[in-house]
Amino acid sequence: MIVIGCSNSPKLASLVAQRMRCRFAALEASRFPDGELLVRFPVGVKGRQVVLVQSFQPQPQEALVEVLLAASTARELGAKRVTLVAPYLGYMRQDARFQPGQAVSALLVAGLVGKLIARVLTIDPHAHRIPELQAIFGCRFTRLTANNALADFIRSRMRCDVVMGPDAESYQWAEAIAARLGVPAIVLRKKRYSSRHVRVRFAERAELRGKAVVITDDIISTGHTMVEAVKAAKKQGAAQVSCVAVHGVFAENAMQRLRKAGAKCVVTTNTIENRQARIDVAALIAGAL
Ligand code: R5P
Repeated sequence: MIVIGCSNSPKLASLVAQRMRCRFAALEASRFPDGELLVRFPVGVKGRQVVLVQSFQPQPQEALVEVLLAASTARELGAKRVTLVAPYLGYMRQDARFQPGQAVSALLVAGLVGKLIARVLTIDPHAHRIPELQAIFGCRFTRLTANNALADFIRSRMRCDVVMGPDAESYQWAEAIAARLGVPAIVLRKKRYSSRHVRVRFAERAELRGKAVVITDDIISTGHTMVEAVKAAKKQGAAQVSCVAVHGVFAENAMQRLRKAGAKCVVTTNTIENRQARIDVAALIAGAL
């Protein structure tokens, strides 16, 4: 087996290879003067199981094309089997036609990837409306969760009296993490007006006075969801509020807005390599591979 680090996940790929005690190489990706992408395997892949590690953030379009070029090249060069580890699997959020005429991007991207890849492995994909992703990818699909890694990080590094989920869908993280920590979970209700405008509210009365609240979610994208949840917890008297999420996209100055809202600390896993990524998911991936 050889683990290939694509442009967005070189560090995580190398950590996975170390854990699996197998060979690691970084995919070479360069650009033609007109901006088109060219990829090259710096090592032979013939007869090997090739594991591409690529997160779909930042620059999701580039990341996708890089994966398609790499997977098809590995097959052409005689790889025995090509697996894609997409720690953050992009394009899954558009998993329905929310407005007339929109593309259902999840279906299209899954179809393209599944044609070239034998197995896709990902962590906490954001496809709430498609229960079985294997059906749309058409290849073996492994869906992991970073819940335990998040809970163990919170236990060892933070004070946490209550775990809070910012919206109904976040119960999957909030409740599982709270159960592992032995603390209560509160799940808020969210109304999304646009990608940059959300409102949250408590479904029932919550007494947070003096408490250390940790808000958990699958993804911090623009951060608006977390910002509103931080404000709501503070309004209820929380002494401190921290944010812990699986994927940290941090689009459009999300970190600045979270600090301004009063988040004590913001931590994510390294499914997307960024400054807040302090929870390592390499062991989780290596175990599944
Ligand atoms: C929603 O279903 C997700 O779990 C997140 O709460 C949401 O996608 C976060 O987006 P943003 O950071 O842009 O509010």
